[in-house]
Amino acid sequence: MSAVPMTIAAQVVRWQAEHGRNQLPWQNTRDAYRVWLSEIMLQQTQVVTVLEYYARFLARFPDVQQLAAAPQDEVLALWSGLGYYSRARNLHRCAQIVVSQHGGQFPRTVAELAELPGIGRSTAGAIAAFCFGVRAPILDANVRRVLTRVLGFAADLAEARNERSLWVLAEALLPEDDLQSAMPRYTQGLMDLGAGICLPRSPSCMLCPLQRVCVARREGAPERYPVRTRKLRRSAQAWWLLLRQDDAGRLWLERRAPAGIWAALYCPPVYASRHELDAALAAPAVAMAQDLPAFTHVLTHRDLHLHPVLLRGSAAAAGAHCAEPSAAGWFTREQWQALGLPAPVRKLLDAL
Ligand code: ADE
Ligand code: SF4
Repeated sequence: MSAVPMTIAAQVVRWQAEHGRNQLPWQNTRDAYRVWLSEIMLQQTQVVTVLEYYARFLARFPDVQQLAAAPQDEVLALWSGLGYYSRARNLHRCAQIVVSQHGGQFPRTVAELAELPGIGRSTAGAIAAFCFGVRAPILDANVRRVLTRVLGFAADLAEARNERSLWVLAEALLPEDDLQSAMPRYTQGLMDLGAGICLPRSPSCMLCPLQRVCVARREGAPERYPVRTRKLRRSAQAWWLLLRQDDAGRLWLERRAPAGIWAALYCPPVYASRHELDAALAAPAVAMAQDLPAFTHVLTHRDLHLHPVLLRGSAAAAGAHCAEPSAAGWFTREQWQALGLPAPVRKLLDAL
């Protein structure tokens, strides 16, 4: 028994050497072209399918220059059957950029790699780790599953900030020493664990090198990880804001409902359309209402397109009323500055 327990990275590295996949055609090379090509193909396609395509592709395009010089039709034809054809178009564009802007050499940093078409952060990390021994994490679906389970990471990955936290943790777990050999092994090891051991259902924990440190296993229900709620779809909404300003410069504000967007904050009256806003005004006021520049306010799950409409003077004062008068009123600048206002509304009012 050694006194110091092996780190997670060391366990993965040792397990990979003994039990991982080490004879795939894109392994045992540091040629970034080959590694890149395999990683793009493997993004949405299984290894068994990729093997055949990879061989044919390399036979026809042995290096990035020949791929860059090929007609797009030919690239797409060779890709035919792999699906997700945007991958093939990005692949071709990427090859052309590597040739024209990087002298035919793939860049060596994650940041530069991730700028190329079709290369996201995880693929960039894989290429950098495999080819250049860069200490960079990956988080494809398989690795995300392994790491959330090992760590007991239960936060909802549908939320961007939780996804970012997981990246930070993935980075902290990376090998510290001997990166040139450890990074390729560790990266491949996590992929191999995800593909063969830490399966979505019924993971083979008994065969897993991380079974003694794995939180999900200890809890008894690894399948609970990763946690991802229904994909939160961003929606968009347009709001017309009626800014009434009386002769004394006061603004009409209403306290919003206690639930929903901007709950309980003070805000100018909101309408779902310009038509509804106009309907709330007397005829002469409609003619005097002045459109201010529209802008977009980004909420967590929604883009709010805000259309402020300004109405000044006595026409503004006429007709201002509220179903619940205690929650609405005319406020001087000094008064409204002390109210709880949504940030974009405060900015808008400040500029009046
Ligand atoms: N999936 C993504 N990258 C892979 C790799 N290098 N080997 C096996 N499967 C993979
Ligand atoms: Fe996955 Fe089980 Fe290994 Fe945990 S112990 S990482 S759940 S295979």
